[in-house]
Amino acid sequence: MWVLWLSYARPFILCQKYLHLNIMPYRANSRSQSLTLEDKSMPKSSIQQHKKKLAFASIKSMYRVFTVPEAPNSTLGQIDKDISRNLAGFLQDHIVAVEKDLTEVEKDFSDSRIPDKPIFVSEQTQFLLDKLVAQSVHTASPSFVGHMTSALPYFMLPLSKIMIALNQNLVKTETSKAFTPMERQVTGMLHRLVYEQDSEFYKHWMHNSHYALGSMASGGTIANVTALWTARNLAFPAEGNFKGVNQQGLFKALRYYGYEGAAILVSKRGHYSLSKTADILGIGRENLIAIDTDDDNRIQLDQLREQCIKLQHEKIKIISIVGIAGTTETGNIDPLDEIAEIAREFKAHFHVDAAWGGPTLFSREHKHLLKGIEKADSVTLDAHKQLYVPMGSGLVVFKDPAKLRAIEHHAQYVVRKGSKDLGSTTLEGSRPGMSMLVHSGLRIIGKEGYEILINQGIEKAKAFASLIEKNDDFELITKPELNILTYRYCPQWLQDELTIAKPEHAERINTHINRFTKYIQKTQRELGRAFVSRTLLEPQRHNGFPCVVFRVVLANPLTTMDILEEILIEQSRIAKDDKISSEMDAFEKLCSERENKKRKEN
Ligand SMILES: Cc1ncc(COP(=O)(O)O)c(C=O)c1O
Repeated sequence: MWVLWLSYARPFILCQKYLHLNIMPYRANSRSQSLTLEDKSMPKSSIQQHKKKLAFASIKSMYRVFTVPEAPNSTLGQIDKDISRNLAGFLQDHIVAVEKDLTEVEKDFSDSRIPDKPIFVSEQTQFLLDKLVAQSVHTASPSFVGHMTSALPYFMLPLSKIMIALNQNLVKTETSKAFTPMERQVTGMLHRLVYEQDSEFYKHWMHNSHYALGSMASGGTIANVTALWTARNLAFPAEGNFKGVNQQGLFKALRYYGYEGAAILVSKRGHYSLSKTADILGIGRENLIAIDTDDDNRIQLDQLREQCIKLQHEKIKIISIVGIAGTTETGNIDPLDEIAEIAREFKAHFHVDAAWGGPTLFSREHKHLLKGIEKADSVTLDAHKQLYVPMGSGLVVFKDPAKLRAIEHHAQYVVRKGSKDLGSTTLEGSRPGMSMLVHSGLRIIGKEGYEILINQGIEKAKAFASLIEKNDDFELITKPELNILTYRYCPQWLQDELTIAKPEHAERINTHINRFTKYIQKTQRELGRAFVSRTLLEPQRHNGFPCVVFRVVLANPLTTMDILEEILIEQSRIAKDDKISSEMDAFEKLCSERENKKRKEN
């Protein structure tokens, strides 16, 4: 134990064994798998400077473990600089991922034993750079346009050190002090973005210990759970001899209120976190009712209303209707204004999952798309998506500052009644001060900066969509409403064929196209220069047939039209691979023979 501590305390002065590591700088634009610590042109790092010493445990070394290194050129300080330089190189490298199979990568992480002997920080750092950093995904690359995980503004990196160094725990003020009012301020700022109350409102509620404008969470999933947990508790409050669903559980709640079950309604484009929510709240995944969407992936209001009536007749309590502002796969926005009306009519909590699309409210040009969000009882926002904050920060805001009381928890030693402790209204217990980075983003980028980021993403998505439409190799499947679009590989002659094909033949074509699109996406990912993701949609235009589509998310401001054009060129090139092009040729032949036969018959 002592030896272990010691080794972490004095990594570089203890052992020369690690002083001659393969120390090379991370080279931007190289496909090198080895990211290492030292640069020949740099002064020799402390790893090399110290003479070999043996590790031994003592109380003195323990003190050192917890003491901030004082010398400006301390070993740890040096390694810190080396890592920063290395990471900067990694971040500048516009390669999405190196070509290495995951099963190969697993070999570096296959030992389940905790080592008996300690190792030195230098060795661990080297391991991390070689085996972890080198094999991770460049989510910051401008050609990584497949997922919602994007580049971060660079200032987040140095600022995040403050969070780690202070290690505040936001569960209670005793371990967070100023972080607590700061988090309340951040919640207030984002509440204001959604609900636009006046300054007096925020002066009154923001720091009021008996109320909460929202609840911070590690992401959109927990934010959604928190919203619907609150909705469930509000749906079955204490009354008469019933102590409330939070005390007596769902079974007794349904019996007391005379219901046969409970349900949450959302369009079939709802994020799977809602299905997890229905599961853990005891509602059951089957009772997360998926409503059909129109061809623009927006909830069909007549079907929503019909379902509500049906559920009412079946004595199923509608806990919540969820509207989506930015569907995960296609980036579409439900008609929130109209959903608000239906939710009011059926006395259901109206929740909006704006994990992706919420920051569109910064854009004066596009905020009208979210009209009606201000009528929501609660709204999920994911700061680690379009607020460009590192992973681990989401939140839900509530219109009414009293609503979160429905999930309030207190304990004797912490989150006591009347305290300002944030832990009383969060699902998670111990939580880091991520709100510090949300605060920083909101101030450093500001409303105007976010507006620019949102606008450029939407404009770029529109421009990319028209590029796809003009390209004979591809078919645009969903037009971008925000900055997400989908398309697939489908040469023009097949698109023409599909417009006249009978259902059976259309199915055959689509099945064929699905195989092609999937192959292209996988191959492009393996090549590692660019990444678009893949999903399955059922476009009405193709009679609801499940179509494999490329999905593109355009949040990185450094993604240029040239990069997007390159992505299409590479995809067309992959489609001409010997491996699959013969299949397409055979299919083309088959289709023309069919055509000839039909002509003869006529
Ligand atoms: C609409 C929507 N809601 C919720 C989530 C879940 O967010 P997280 O992954 O941060 O838990 C996502 C994630 O992609 C999402 O797109």
